[in-house]
Amino acid sequence: MDRITITTPDDWHLHFRDGDMLNETVPATARCFKRAIVMPNLVPPITSADMALKYRSRIIDASPANSQFEPLMTLYLTNATSTQDIVDAKQAGIHACKLYPAGATTNSDSAVKGIDALYPVFQAMQEEGMLLLVHGEVTDSHIDIFDREKAFIDTHLASIVEAFPQLKVVFEHITTADAVQFVSNSSANVAATVTPQHLLLNRNDLLVGGIRPHNYCLPVLKRNTHQQAIRDVVASGSNKFFLGTDSAPHTRDNKENACGCAGCYSAWSAIELYAQVFDDLGALDKLEGFASHHGADFYGLKRNTDTITLVQELWQVPDRITLADGTELVPFYAGQTLNWKLENSLS
Ligand code: NCD
Ligand code: ZN
Repeated sequence: MDRITITTPDDWHLHFRDGDMLNETVPATARCFKRAIVMPNLVPPITSADMALKYRSRIIDASPANSQFEPLMTLYLTNATSTQDIVDAKQAGIHACKLYPAGATTNSDSAVKGIDALYPVFQAMQEEGMLLLVHGEVTDSHIDIFDREKAFIDTHLASIVEAFPQLKVVFEHITTADAVQFVSNSSANVAATVTPQHLLLNRNDLLVGGIRPHNYCLPVLKRNTHQQAIRDVVASGSNKFFLGTDSAPHTRDNKENACGCAGCYSAWSAIELYAQVFDDLGALDKLEGFASHHGADFYGLKRNTDTITLVQELWQVPDRITLADGTELVPFYAGQTLNWKLENSLS
């Protein structure tokens, strides 16, 4: 097989940032995705429907002229989020709220301390049919960074899922066999997104032969047995697992730094990276469900009706992307060769 045609995919988790950066990030995603769930971790975070709608129009302004790209907005939960905020957000067409434990990742300082305090908000979300998107890591300083996802399941996620059986929960960017197992064993209202980096890499790719800052993201890459569990479950075709790149640009200076930022900017090669993984797994027939069907079905949205085609062709991910103001980004998988290529950009 040297070409495959699939329903146009969507990206169910990414970071566009704001301002001039949108002129880079939005076209990169609109290249191959019809819709994307846009993360709200700006400074200040997107905490109200009004902020989300304004952010949405800035994203649409940055979309290529001929694109039909549709940003799907989210709200950032804080300890100040009220049940009225949820009602207003639902009315404004916002699909989901993101739970970041305080200090878990980039721009999460204003996030939630004491998750139990949010139970009335989760109740309102369940009633309104609003999805809960979870960055599933505890942040307690005494918990080892490699154990933080599992600890989050045990300390918080299992209780939330049990207390709100009708609440749809997406366990974002899963990294462990524990998360795979938790999601697989939970009800149909619990699903997970999977990034290209957690399918392609394990912690050796971060630490062996020198520290590789462009492979540093959160949750951090885990050991190869966890990587294998994630690969196995996407190859199984389970409809609880779907595409969410977590594409998250940081400038080269901020990545190649004594205290480098967490995030991989994968938008420019996203669908190709996933195609490569599914091909390696002998599961190319499962790519379409993962990339184009399971996410829309879980969110209760229509599947896209148009298609994209990927062709088998060697190409190299660029070493650098230079923005109009001279800022440099190093894309994920920079300089590496991929064997699938999008035939025609959507825009
Ligand atoms: C994300 C970012 O940079 O905004 N970073 C990351 O490593 N994934 C935040 C996040 O999703 O954790
Ligand atoms: Zn993210």
